[in-house]
Amino acid sequence: MKTVEKHYAKIARLYDVIWKGYIKNTNEEVIKNLELKDGFEVLDAGCGTGYLIKRLWEENPRLNIIGVDISEKMLNIAKKRLKGRKIKLLKKDMEDLNLSDKFDIIVSNGNIHYIKNIEGFIQKCKSLLKENGQLILVDWSKDYLLFRVLKVYWKFRIKPFTQIYTMEEIKDRLTKTGFKIEKSYNFKPTRFWRCYLIKAKV
Ligand SMILES: C[S@@+](CC[C@H](N)C(=O)[O-])C[C@H]1O[C@@H](n2cnc3c(N)ncnc32)[C@H](O)[C@@H]1O
Repeated sequence: MKTVEKHYAKIARLYDVIWKGYIKNTNEEVIKNLELKDGFEVLDAGCGTGYLIKRLWEENPRLNIIGVDISEKMLNIAKKRLKGRKIKLLKKDMEDLNLSDKFDIIVSNGNIHYIKNIEGFIQKCKSLLKENGQLILVDWSKDYLLFRVLKVYWKFRIKPFTQIYTMEEIKDRLTKTGFKIEKSYNFKPTRFWRCYLIKAKV
């Protein structure tokens, strides 16, 4: 079992309670920025307990949504939350995704600080997107001094933690991979947390 899977096996039960405001506010920010159409294929990479998927389904039940996550425990909670809806949930490592489908939308919220090979992940997203497909990335932002300091603490306190980035660092990797940046900004989902949101298209 990978360290990130072990980490979420421990905290899955309390995840929705502890991170309630953060989950809601970051994912509502994602929804605000998505262009949704009937029949769109949507991938939530690192879907966790399924908050975003449920909200997307409420916005448009004619979307075809797939959620992937490495944590069985997080997926079990997502399964309960999404019971009765036609949504595919797969236990997979998003850094090593082999899917035959291509997507109109890929979202990854709150996962980049666990990714080991960010260039590989961005490349993977590009290969999985249809032409004009939308990619939305949200994660903790290194644009804030406090977070640059906390990064050192997280590295040693959160076992699977790998790295946080500034918005420009991610945008630079996206453009080098062939993405066009549509929108990018830092925002405050809660009083403490600082995130970036980047929307890009292929
Ligand atoms: C902070 S949670 C975010 C979950 C969800 N996106 C949300 O907004 O609530 C991070 C999630 O990413 C998943 N994750 C981390 N690394 C992963 C990987 N390599 N492949 C798939 N899922 C991963 C974890 O299991 C966890 O469920």
